[in-house]
Amino acid sequence: MLIRRLKGWELPEREATPEALMFNRRAVLAGGLAAGAIASPLLSRSAWADTAGLYPAKRNAAFTIASGPTPEADNTNYNNFYEYGTSKHVAAAAEALKPDPWTVSFDGLVDTPRKVAFEDLVKALGLEERLYRHRCVEGWAMTVPWTGFPLKALVDYAKPQSGAKYVQFETFMDPKMAPGQKSFFYPWPYLEGVSMAEATNDLAFMVTGAYGKPLPKVMGAPLRLALPWKYGFKSIKSISRISFVAERPKTFWAQLNADEYGFWANVNPAVPHPRWSQSSEAVLGTNDRQPTQLFNGYAAQVASLYDGLKGESLYM
Ligand code: MTE
Repeated sequence: MLIRRLKGWELPEREATPEALMFNRRAVLAGGLAAGAIASPLLSRSAWADTAGLYPAKRNAAFTIASGPTPEADNTNYNNFYEYGTSKHVAAAAEALKPDPWTVSFDGLVDTPRKVAFEDLVKALGLEERLYRHRCVEGWAMTVPWTGFPLKALVDYAKPQSGAKYVQFETFMDPKMAPGQKSFFYPWPYLEGVSMAEATNDLAFMVTGAYGKPLPKVMGAPLRLALPWKYGFKSIKSISRISFVAERPKTFWAQLNADEYGFWANVNPAVPHPRWSQSSEAVLGTNDRQPTQLFNGYAAQVASLYDGLKGESLYM
């Protein structure tokens, strides 16, 4: 059985959120991005920095929210990126991530397994901006202007075979670059998955940027997932491998504790986490409390995905 160790998101919200406002590394991050953008014409194999000229992308008006985005500084100073430590303040540590060059492997049940350069993926699939809500299982919530392309477009690009039932995503594995991966407690690499029906839903989004710029390292450069109707741990960062599989993926957190961090992990105010209520959430930045919404406010778009799965643990 597992040794109980307090994970970051097990902190009571009242203890955790105010810390987000105590640090501001925005200047450091902005400096880093600007340097990358200036250097990019000189770096022939620089995938992430070379895409800087594609931002900001046009906002897709179908995916917007009246409340407006969480300030960038609050977002980039309160993160979960266990590859760089279990603290919320991992932005400085995550600067060790090297997104240039970056490749993404496609394998499993696909017609042609291949490895694609990140910039070629972006060129092939194009970019748009969407404003999405994000709800962490710990009880905090934010709104982010993500840039990227629909996961559905990536599925079409990969050409999966009919036997594929799930899409499995893996983060890079490089303990030298990500010291957190030296910890034997966690089943590295970080791994996540969705059903094919979820992957091809309009809301599922592959993210390459945020706030009109390439994705900061701490937010999972150069490529992450956004599944706004699910708890945030499904939104895997720094993806380097995408596999089409017949069996349900054994996800990172479910391997550690499936009763608390299950495969489906859909947001539901009526289903408490085994150790805390999910009925309300704290807004990142202000710490105001607001009611949690079923499927994080996206029930109209996604509830029907689960019609045939009533016996499953859909909300944890
Ligand atoms: N992906 C990787 N590779 N490693 C992580 O630790 N944390 C997850 C998710 N994706 C995580 C990850 C969790 S718990 C959340 S809430 C979101 O990333 C946080 O994203 P943010 O730091 O951009 O807010």
